[in-house]
Amino acid sequence: MAEPSVKRLARLAITALLLAVMAISGAALLLLACPGSPRCSAAFGSALMAPAKLRGCGVSGECDIFEGEWVWDDSYPLYESKDCPFLDGGFRCSENGRPDASYTKWRWQPSCCDLPRFDAKSMLEMLRNKRVVFAGDSIGRNQWESLLCMLSTGVSDKSSIYEINGRPITKHDGFFIFKFREYNCTVEYYRSPLLVPQGHGPAGAPKFVKSTIWVDSMDWMSGRRKWKDADLLIFNSGHWWTKDKTIGWGAYFREGDEVKLDMTVSDAYRRSIQTLFDWVRKEVNTTKTQAIFRTYSPTHFSGGDWKNGGDCQLETLPDRRPVKSMEQWADRLQPVCDVLGNNQRPKLPGLDILNVTQMTAQRKDGHLSVFRSSLSSRLAYLNKTSGVKEVEDCSHWCLPGVPDTWNELLYALFMKRQMMLDENSSDTVSGSRTLNSTDRQSAGDVST
Ligand SMILES: *[C@@H]1O[C@H](CO)[C@@H](O)[C@H](O)[C@H]1NC(C)=O
Ligand SMILES: *[C@@H]1O[C@H](CO)[C@@H](O)[C@H](O)[C@H]1NC(C)=O
Ligand SMILES: *[C@@H]1O[C@H](CO)[C@@H](O)[C@H](O)[C@H]1NC(C)=O
Ligand SMILES: *[C@@H]1O[C@H](CO)[C@@H](O)[C@H](O)[C@H]1NC(C)=O
Ligand SMILES: *[C@@H]1O[C@H](CO)[C@@H](O)[C@H](O)[C@H]1NC(C)=O
Ligand SMILES: *[C@@H]1O[C@H](CO)[C@@H](O)[C@H](O)[C@H]1NC(C)=O
Repeated sequence: MAEPSVKRLARLAITALLLAVMAISGAALLLLACPGSPRCSAAFGSALMAPAKLRGCGVSGECDIFEGEWVWDDSYPLYESKDCPFLDGGFRCSENGRPDASYTKWRWQPSCCDLPRFDAKSMLEMLRNKRVVFAGDSIGRNQWESLLCMLSTGVSDKSSIYEINGRPITKHDGFFIFKFREYNCTVEYYRSPLLVPQGHGPAGAPKFVKSTIWVDSMDWMSGRRKWKDADLLIFNSGHWWTKDKTIGWGAYFREGDEVKLDMTVSDAYRRSIQTLFDWVRKEVNTTKTQAIFRTYSPTHFSGGDWKNGGDCQLETLPDRRPVKSMEQWADRLQPVCDVLGNNQRPKLPGLDILNVTQMTAQRKDGHLSVFRSSLSSRLAYLNKTSGVKEVEDCSHWCLPGVPDTWNELLYALFMKRQMMLDENSSDTVSGSRTLNSTDRQSAGDVST
């Protein structure tokens, strides 16, 4: 249905006004932010995180672990790709010939507290008889494979970790369930780039409607594969909510039986996040399940996009200056902010935000670039095409690498919650899971 033109004109006028305001404030380097994220306050899960060498931080309240800086740390990475059988070839940059390793040496240092050192055995112990579920796009798979590698450092017999259906990790399969036998715990990944279902258009829809995306229901896999029964449930989405990957392919949005030809990608994305919110609120027992949404992971193509020669191959250092503007990702960030809230004040208690966008925006050095395939296949390609520039991947991440940091933050959120559960349960000695301060500091000197 077309909007009445008066309404449309009014909307245009408002848009123009907004653009003008944005242009003006753009001069003041607009930084997209969820409101209500106080800059600095002290300890995060007080007993868990070592309180800061306070750098101009307040002394009460919670530490925002997502605000901080990347610091060089020779004790990193947490694992080597050659020791981790669970990584698919596409993420094995160093084995694929990437010459530098500096991108594996950066540790995230929050401004107001220290993160706990990742301890695979402690995490596995707390995951005994439990399920971890990742649902999202291939950047979610990137993070899931990273967590498999990180956890597997705590297990000496790697053959005791296996995909329960014996399926090798590939890019296109719908799901994988890895079991850590000693702990009877599974770490699962479900490919669901939109988190909502996609299927054929209804009978009678115009020809250009090749498929439809139901923005008002959760991916059908959520029910069949029992996402809601997971103990730790990590969602992400964003990379597929582009015009190219939806309307560009004839995939239109739909609520119930009604195809909404006018719905913009941005509105549709917002609607899908609302669907996620409603689903968690109604279906998930957040006393049992810790639900988390990981925010958008920025890409770093320069000089074009992936199909127009955009590259990142020569990037070997993070950009450690504060991120100037998040405007270019506003379409993916604002709906999450508006519907789910921010990491300090989630709108739905029980749905935490793993807010990686800003820190990740600084890591243009961490992408696969041309090292997304093996050296031999690249040489063969270059040989065949007499040196035509290779397509680079500046969306996904080398492993070990940036997603390991997301998982260290995930670990912090997970441990914090375990401690709160401990404190709440009367039959457990309070604080019994407090980490040793030596563990905490073993990440090396906190350089500034
Ligand atoms: C293993 O974990 C599952 C949950 O993932 C649980 O249902 C089952 O009872 C556990 N098995 C044992 C032997 O504890
Ligand atoms: C929610 O989970 C908790 C902890 O596992 C359990 O005690 C409670 O009975 C569950 N509530 C419902 C409604 O299933
Ligand atoms: C993420 O963190 C940044 C930096 O602390 C903050 O500006 C932003 O509001 C946060 N976003 C969310 C969704 O929590
Ligand atoms: C490149 O092509 C030449 C001849 O076509 C062949 O002899 C050589 O083995 C090729 N090299 C690689 C690395 O494929
Ligand atoms: C612990 O108990 C407090 C107060 O009863 C409650 O608000 C909080 O949600 C509980 N935390 C967890 C993780 O269950
Ligand atoms: C603290 O560390 C020591 C030595 O590493 C270990 O024996 C002890 O069990 C740890 N305590 C806790 C509460 O983890």
